[in-house]
Amino acid sequence: MCGIVGYTGAHEAAPVLVAGLRRLEYRGYDSAGLATLDRDRLTVRKRAGRVRALEELLESESAPGRCGISHTRWATHGPANDRNAHPHLGGRGGAIRVAVVHNGVIENHAALRRELESQGFEFHSQTDTEVIAHLIARELETTDDLFEAVQRAMPRLEGTYGLGVISPSRPGEVVGARFGSPLVVGLGEGEHLLASDPVAIAPHTAQVAFLQDGEVVRLTPHDFEMRHLEHGPITPRIDRLDWKPDAVELGGHAHYMIKEIREQPETIVNTCRGRLRRSEATAVFGGLNLSPRQLRRVRRVVFAACGTSWHAALVGEYLIERLADLPVEVEYASEFRYRNAPLDDRTLVFVLSQSGETADTLGALREAKRRGHPTLAIVNTVGSTIAREADGGIYLHAGPEVGVASTKAFSAQVAVLTLLALYLGRLRHLSFPDGLAVIDAIEQVPALLGEVLKTEPLIEEAAGRIASAHSALYLGRDLHYPVALEGALKLKEISYIHAEGYPTAEMKHGPIALVDRHTPCIFVVPRGSLHAKTLSNLEEVRARDGLVISVGTEDDQAVAGLSQVFLPIPEAPEVVQPLLAVVPLQLLAYHVARQRGCDIDKPRNLAKSVTVE
Ligand code: F6R
Repeated sequence: MCGIVGYTGAHEAAPVLVAGLRRLEYRGYDSAGLATLDRDRLTVRKRAGRVRALEELLESESAPGRCGISHTRWATHGPANDRNAHPHLGGRGGAIRVAVVHNGVIENHAALRRELESQGFEFHSQTDTEVIAHLIARELETTDDLFEAVQRAMPRLEGTYGLGVISPSRPGEVVGARFGSPLVVGLGEGEHLLASDPVAIAPHTAQVAFLQDGEVVRLTPHDFEMRHLEHGPITPRIDRLDWKPDAVELGGHAHYMIKEIREQPETIVNTCRGRLRRSEATAVFGGLNLSPRQLRRVRRVVFAACGTSWHAALVGEYLIERLADLPVEVEYASEFRYRNAPLDDRTLVFVLSQSGETADTLGALREAKRRGHPTLAIVNTVGSTIAREADGGIYLHAGPEVGVASTKAFSAQVAVLTLLALYLGRLRHLSFPDGLAVIDAIEQVPALLGEVLKTEPLIEEAAGRIASAHSALYLGRDLHYPVALEGALKLKEISYIHAEGYPTAEMKHGPIALVDRHTPCIFVVPRGSLHAKTLSNLEEVRARDGLVISVGTEDDQAVAGLSQVFLPIPEAPEVVQPLLAVVPLQLLAYHVARQRGCDIDKPRNLAKSVTVE
């Protein structure tokens, strides 16, 4: 999806802007561009294709100035070509008053275009964005205050936008505005930055202020000012990104995905830090904003999420029902928001989201709030829209996740849900020793994950056996059913091999028809309560000449003996097995995609954060 980076400060803007765009490349895009201001001289450079093409252009045609805006475009209105790339310019009669970059969609662009054309504004692209540039330019004919002009133009726009705007009449100034598309300000030393994702500006500063809908910001090197369109001046909340400076660098790894898979032992440590209380055999959370008494009244939990976060929620369902004996329902956020799901006043609604910006999940949260339910969020991105709008919640502290295929965020979500199950369990019937056993199990996980990661060479070899498959089945029972779903999603999204996840025993009710020697069946079957029942399913696949790959407990001869490929994980209590079992599946998907030559960090048709319905 589109990306925005803006800069004003003591350094040349173009290198900062290009480096920021590079950090947003993972989100997917098809053209890139920037505009800079050197005093009142505006320079625009843009190109269809990769950021590399823009860099090559800048080598021969520079863009001087210490202030500028930039953009990676993912085409919606008009094809991906140089002309439609952002920034777009506004003004009439030969006067160029403004350059604009825009994320989002302007729904009334056709009517605005007709109106502006009738007033002498000429259009040079097929984009909806160009109307924004002309609207602001029209206001700049009667004021020289860019901040004011943007605010006057905003009420004319219907749809969603995150904007970055500069004007030759305001050297050194960048104006940003938000309605529905994320925007964050970075507060540096003698410099200010603007971005659609903090990842773009993280190396410059850890101090950030997230804009909310209807807010507009004016940045100069030493100052920034924020207003809400209706409520006037606001004092923004400054958040601190708790990321290491190299958190968004590849650091010697071939891809972000593998970097993030390998980071998982550390992720679990960070997610659980300060949240385990041995003296009471429970977990503690700072931001739930609900007292133990209120939580004890809860009779039902609803989780709403999308994609990988939905899979994590399913693990949560099994864990909470097991440890806290509380009914849980897991909803696709996109369905929940429009469905007439009965919720009584003792239902607690949780949404889960890595990005905190997923439109469907945000919609589900707003719908639950509208109906008067307390809403909680499990979110990774600090200050994101979902984090702000929920009544309370739990941060994952997984650090920035750059790879489009979510890996460490899934593990952090499952870790948080394990702690939540422990906490809710201890508010109900879970005994002190049983609570301590859960804590012991969680504390072992980082070291055990280290062991799993050591098996990567074995997994890389196994990947060779499925790299040419057209279809794969992932099978797991109980807590491992969602792990199977997640393994299948990972494979399909980055290697483009069709894959389906099923509860293992469900296989005989249909999917078994697919089994032949070309269809790998990947079983998730660590030693546990339903282990013995799964062995017969492995036999059934063997009997049909299918390829059995299994993830099992390291010394499990029974499973190993029935599998052509056996991927071991260490012995561990059942409640933490999903955290271990998912890792070989992530690695398998990664290595299959690599062997197939796929663009792992930028899988086709996918975006990291889906901010449209
Ligand atoms: C899969 C993946 C997506 C996301 C989904 C929800 O690897 O990344 O399925 O999980 O789009 O995103 P968040 O968690 O940001 O709400």
